[in-house]
Amino acid sequence: MTDVSVLVVGAGFWAREMHLPALAQLPGVRIAGVVATSEASAAAAAGPYGATAWTDLDRALEATGADVVDVVAPPDVHRPAVEAAARHGRHAICIKPLARSLDEADAMLAAVRAAGTRLFYAENVPFIPALHEARRVVDAGQIGDVFRVKACEGIGEPHSSWFFDPGRSGGGAIIDMAVHSIAFCAYFAGAPVTSVYADADTYVWRGRTDAEDTAVLTLRFANGVLGQCEDSWSLTGAMDSRFEIFGTGGRVLIDNLHRQPLQVAGAGGWSYPLPLPGLVADGHLAMLGHFVDCLRTGAPSRSEGTTGRDMLAVVDAAVRSVASGRRENVHSTVPQGGRP
Ligand SMILES: NC(=O)c1ccc[n+]([C@@H]2O[C@H](COP(=O)([O-])OP(=O)(O)OC[C@H]3O[C@@H](n4cnc5c(N)ncnc54)[C@H](O)[C@@H]3O)[C@@H](O)[C@H]2O)c1
Repeated sequence: MTDVSVLVVGAGFWAREMHLPALAQLPGVRIAGVVATSEASAAAAAGPYGATAWTDLDRALEATGADVVDVVAPPDVHRPAVEAAARHGRHAICIKPLARSLDEADAMLAAVRAAGTRLFYAENVPFIPALHEARRVVDAGQIGDVFRVKACEGIGEPHSSWFFDPGRSGGGAIIDMAVHSIAFCAYFAGAPVTSVYADADTYVWRGRTDAEDTAVLTLRFANGVLGQCEDSWSLTGAMDSRFEIFGTGGRVLIDNLHRQPLQVAGAGGWSYPLPLPGLVADGHLAMLGHFVDCLRTGAPSRSEGTTGRDMLAVVDAAVRSVASGRRENVHSTVPQGGRP
């Protein structure tokens, strides 16, 4: 029995590789339609799921009657898509980063508040199964008191031109990649980030973008925990997804790419000849299943729209710190880093 129907906005890399196949695996969930800028790409993404293809979100919302809109398009589309969903009285899931700026995020939160609908923030990192196991280890006291957390998220090259245009993406590696690292650090520090020192520059993609392709952040949490984030688009030919938790009695290291026993980086890019599904190992299936459960039960989510706003507040402080050369305070209106 179908009880939740989803309209997916975006038919690119992430919608096709992760969200559409994950949604299709969730019992009781129907993919009602796919919206993209071209009819052909919407149809190619929608076809395998028996969904309809659209280029106009308002018309798709009227025609499909979907319960929730899953926004998996570039950041400049996030605010208008979430506002359209709210206007039609529909819930929304919004992929990271929530928006290009805190002002946009606040407008999105205001729109769903006024409509009485819900907004979920689709950041997969806190849903990674290996991190849940790490959390169990930490909560069992096996590494003592956590005092430092660290994450490295890197790729060699963004795959679409909009990433290089800060007008569309909202910035560079900080807003695109460090959002994942900040989410990890907040998940294990268990307190709000109060200040950030960040340094960043453009090393590999100078000439193609003014945005930073490499960033190093240090975070201070309200409980004294220290966080480090190393995030880039400059890891030529490679990828990184590592997380560490340091305690007074031990340390946990998660190399999330090691879930793939065989990784080959060569002229054809990355390949995993013995693939394990990323939508499971990277937490996307668990995350989308959690959002659907929240819609069914009305339960609070581990990742509300306000969580995405919190992450952006840290990004905002990091960007200000790069410009000022000083440590900058985080302007957050809601408590972040709370343990779900
Ligand atoms: N780990 C992650 O969570 C993760 C990984 C990759 C990308 N992302 C995010 O997913 C989002 C999309 O990235 P991508 O890699 O799929 O990009 P992409 O360039 O591969 O695809 C973008 C898609 O959005 C569609 N689109 C653009 N403008 C639109 C509009 N106005 N209305 C409807 N559709 C529109 C395009 O037609 C295209 O299908 C970004 O916010 C990105 O940051 C998240």
